[in-house]
Amino acid sequence: MDTIAEKKQSMKEMEDFMPIMGTDYVEIYTSNARQAAYFYQSAFGFKPVAHCGLETGVKDRESYVVQQDKIRIVLTSPLKSGTEVGTHIDKHGDGVRVIALWVDDAEYAYSTAVERGAESYFEPREESDVHGRVVRSGIKIYGDTVHIFVERKDYSGVFLPGYEPWDSGMEIKPIGLKYVDHMVGNVELGKMNYWVKFYEDVLGFRQMLSFDDKDISTKYTALMSKVMSNGNGRIKFPINEPAKGVKKSQVEEYLDFYEGPGVQHVAVATNNIIDTIAELRSRGIQFLSIPDTYYDELEDRVGEIDEQTSTLRKLGILVDRDDEGSLLQIFTKPIQPRPTMFFEIIQRKGATSFGKGNFKALFEAIEREQELRGTL
Ligand code: FE2
Repeated sequence: MDTIAEKKQSMKEMEDFMPIMGTDYVEIYTSNARQAAYFYQSAFGFKPVAHCGLETGVKDRESYVVQQDKIRIVLTSPLKSGTEVGTHIDKHGDGVRVIALWVDDAEYAYSTAVERGAESYFEPREESDVHGRVVRSGIKIYGDTVHIFVERKDYSGVFLPGYEPWDSGMEIKPIGLKYVDHMVGNVELGKMNYWVKFYEDVLGFRQMLSFDDKDISTKYTALMSKVMSNGNGRIKFPINEPAKGVKKSQVEEYLDFYEGPGVQHVAVATNNIIDTIAELRSRGIQFLSIPDTYYDELEDRVGEIDEQTSTLRKLGILVDRDDEGSLLQIFTKPIQPRPTMFFEIIQRKGATSFGKGNFKALFEAIEREQELRGTL
């Protein structure tokens, strides 16, 4: 007979009508995928994996696929004017177009999502080559962002049919990045709850946490955030909306420059944030700078930690603690000319939260940057 724990587990699985195994890839539309691919290899230590473009019979765009452990990034540029990719870049600048979700059945995922209210991006399509077949389908989410469901159980190629293996010849030094921890969407004022409900109704996500303007406000700006998680907890999508402050919220600044909602940051996990950040800094990646006072108060706030405060101070790494453990995190400056998308590097030591204790220090750091840009 099944134990109660087993029964509970199977009931939980039954309730999860949209099983998702993980993030399959993140596709960024960028005006120069070739140079972007060099940046992700040389600075972030991603390995070259696959390529498509003129040489593979694709006439209107070129894509490079890079990977580090479970994190797969696709960089795509247009090869002529008037394409979907180019139009997206013209409006938004560089940014995330696709958050691809790894599923067992892309047809089921699509029909379930559409029945439950999602708008179609494209219907299930089968793509195949000598390595097997992949089924993909897509739905629209906030702004011009989309989810693509990827079913790849019958495929053994390097990425997707149509792509060829690509080796840049560069010697790659990985920096210990493991997987996508979470991806944050910025949506318009008053739209956060709409997208919370969308993720609940359409994709079976649940709300893990919520922060309001009392948690996330400084003297000048405020935002509200709800964290959505899928059934097995592998996918976490916090959704932010601006809240009224004395000056312009960072979310508003994002919405102005991205010209609509979109992905604000991609958080990637490491098992050794000190080594990862020391390496990234030596490769010229710039991070938000944190005032010295943050570190003066650190131990009083989070108690004893494994790391030396002086090392954290030198590298600008933030620390927070919740009931389950601690976490260390740091945020890059925007990675393209518009003050829109950035990366977070995070190391979890039991903590399942998102660094609430750091919000104030972090947002004050962002405001100093906004002030320099004249957008506060
Ligand atoms: Fe984050």
